[in-house]
Amino acid sequence: MSSPLRIAIAGLGTVGAGTLKIVQQNAALLAARGGRAIEVVAVSMRDANKKRDVKLDGIRVEKDARALASASDVDVVVETIGGDEGIAREMVEAALNNKKHVVTANKALIAKHGLALAALAEKQGVVLAFEAAVAGGIPIIGALRSGLAANRILRIAGILNGTCNYILTTMQREQRDFADVLADAQKLGYAEADPSFDVDGIDTAHKVAILTSLAFGTAPNVSAVHVEGIRRISIADIEYAASFGYRIKLLGIATMEDGKLLQRVHPCLVPSASPLGVIDGPFNAVQVEGDAVGRVVFEGRGAGGGPTGSAIVADILAIARGDSYPPFTVATNQLLQATPAPLDAHQGSYYLRLSLKDEPGVLAEFTRAFAAEKISVHSITQRAIAADASAQVIVLTHQTNEAAVARAAKRIAELPISVAAPVVLRIEN
Ligand SMILES: NC(=O)c1ccc[n+]([C@@H]2O[C@H](COP(=O)([O-])OP(=O)(O)OC[C@H]3O[C@@H](n4cnc5c(N)ncnc54)[C@H](OP(=O)(O)O)[C@@H]3O)[C@@H](O)[C@H]2O)c1
Repeated sequence: MSSPLRIAIAGLGTVGAGTLKIVQQNAALLAARGGRAIEVVAVSMRDANKKRDVKLDGIRVEKDARALASASDVDVVVETIGGDEGIAREMVEAALNNKKHVVTANKALIAKHGLALAALAEKQGVVLAFEAAVAGGIPIIGALRSGLAANRILRIAGILNGTCNYILTTMQREQRDFADVLADAQKLGYAEADPSFDVDGIDTAHKVAILTSLAFGTAPNVSAVHVEGIRRISIADIEYAASFGYRIKLLGIATMEDGKLLQRVHPCLVPSASPLGVIDGPFNAVQVEGDAVGRVVFEGRGAGGGPTGSAIVADILAIARGDSYPPFTVATNQLLQATPAPLDAHQGSYYLRLSLKDEPGVLAEFTRAFAAEKISVHSITQRAIAADASAQVIVLTHQTNEAAVARAAKRIAELPISVAAPVVLRIEN
């Protein structure tokens, strides 16, 4: 057997510690699968006195994570510190410059600086791997890179943030509103003290940008992702959606439309019994449509030390075997610069909840707004009288376009019969 592959782990929190445990617990099978022993030689963390459930016997502890990037006894640097700037970016760049392979779980870093880092890795002839950066334990990056590589990818859609899925699922199951469930999720440690990264869709956007690049062979472009979060989702909309056979999910979606790339993150209605509709709690799922394979769905745990560590160790094993590939599968100088598709032109069906005065003649008034925009209505249902005495009317449309729906919603909001602006949600069938 060849010499051991020597690993340094920067950051010993949830993911770093999870990775170390897998390497230690599964040492024999990893050595067999990688063709050589995997040995953690050094780690780094911020607070060396913090109690951690890990065994560090025989492992060097460096105060400064940057030392790992230049250590002569390290072949692979695993970055699990986080953040798209500062120490994480500095040490990843330094490690690549020192011709060390890098494995990271850091989606923010890869989404924002992945192209430059990939170019550097290619130049230095080393691997930059980030299976753990998207959907935790689900091997979606490996699947796009190899198992599905024969396909022209038509669409990729996923539940990529476990915190949001947990919040939406709990709102539905326990009939509680967003703020209430978020506060509990923070107490339980499912959501960060500053939840905006998760609930405002930013984390999902980072993951979409990475998946899009691998799926469509385009340069990652996170600034082109249209992003909406879940703060505006109410229990009323979750219940009305359910009554029509839908669930509300935060999806990250990428499609190529007329040669233009549309990347979007937003809450939407998906059929309750569909592969994404049934994903509950903190789980993640990714649905890929390829021209040859058809639809493939992956589901599993998107976070936590075990699942994320599983993805990191898979990348380490590929390095142990000598697998070598450009980080985004296609060499950086071959990645396409896709023109972003305007969301306004997006075709789809829509859910609108109108809050209207409960008086005769309102139906004729608001349906004129749909007619004026040539929007074909699938159904109109009056559901209830809300606490503010407004009639809650749910309109589901047939296929139409985003801009027309936005104009119709604006017209309705301006009508004297309108009590509040319509809630508009996209339907993904
Ligand atoms: N948590 C998940 O389930 C998950 C899933 C997928 C991807 N990720 C990604 O994985 C990365 C790590 O996430 P995490 O949840 O494991 O974070 P975490 O639990 O907060 O751990 C971060 C670690 O980095 C260490 N650290 C911070 N600043 C440092 C510095 N200047 N020098 C050395 N070490 C430093 C911390 O040290 P101390 O322990 O001493 O504070 C801690 O051990 C992030 O990029 C995250 O987005 C996480």
